[in-house]
Amino acid sequence: MSDTSAANGKVVVNRAMSLDGFIAGPGHAMDWIADFLAPDKMREQAAATGAMLVGRRTDEVGDRMEAEKPGSVDYPFSGPVFVLTHRPPEPPDTEVTYLAGDIGDAVATARGAAGGKNVEILGADVAGQCLRRGLVDEILVYVLPVLLGDGIRFSPPGLPRIGLEPVSSTPSGAVTILRFRVRK
Ligand SMILES: NC(=O)c1ccc[n+]([C@@H]2O[C@H](COP(=O)([O-])OP(=O)(O)OC[C@H]3O[C@@H](n4cnc5c(N)ncnc54)[C@H](OP(=O)(O)O)[C@@H]3O)[C@@H](O)[C@H]2O)c1
Repeated sequence: MSDTSAANGKVVVNRAMSLDGFIAGPGHAMDWIADFLAPDKMREQAAATGAMLVGRRTDEVGDRMEAEKPGSVDYPFSGPVFVLTHRPPEPPDTEVTYLAGDIGDAVATARGAAGGKNVEILGADVAGQCLRRGLVDEILVYVLPVLLGDGIRFSPPGLPRIGLEPVSSTPSGAVTILRFRVRK
């Protein structure tokens, strides 16, 4: 990715993560996050976001959480959302755009809709594809003080080694916020 495109917004992976490296617990449990991280803590990240590229499983978990507890998926973002899936639901959610195919093309589509702001990548599988292809500029992790023991790891197994350049490490109450640039 050229410096020019980076100046037009970054491709970022923002995650809440347990100390043992899980971004969701067993059965895609996400209830451990709200104990430590209120949506307003993510206001700055949301304001920098111009589009989201979301894996189908993340989308489904978001829908499930919203159905079980309305308002629980309260990320303060209202821009374009692209959901990657080989089998869009019937009827489709008219508030998102479904994409399938090459991950580089999907990221380019999301960048094109982001209006010069960041593209956020959601989902471990999707983030893994993006990292493997060198498409991610930055990783921001909220490390939460909990061990989940099992679940969805930050990235799926099989990634090659990827170097990270530490940008900042900020304690915020019980949470530690770590920001890294991805070495290309
Ligand atoms: N802690 C956090 O901050 C955080 C943030 C985001 C997500 N999460 C959690 O992460 C979990 C989901 O991650 P995940 O790794 O299991 O799944 P995911 O990355 O959300 O979704 C994977 C699915 O996306 C579709 N997909 C991926 N690449 C595609 C492509 N190139 N073309 C077409 N479809 C494609 C496929 O769906 P089909 O099978 O439909 O084709 C695939 O099964 C959820 O529990 C979610 O809540 C946590």
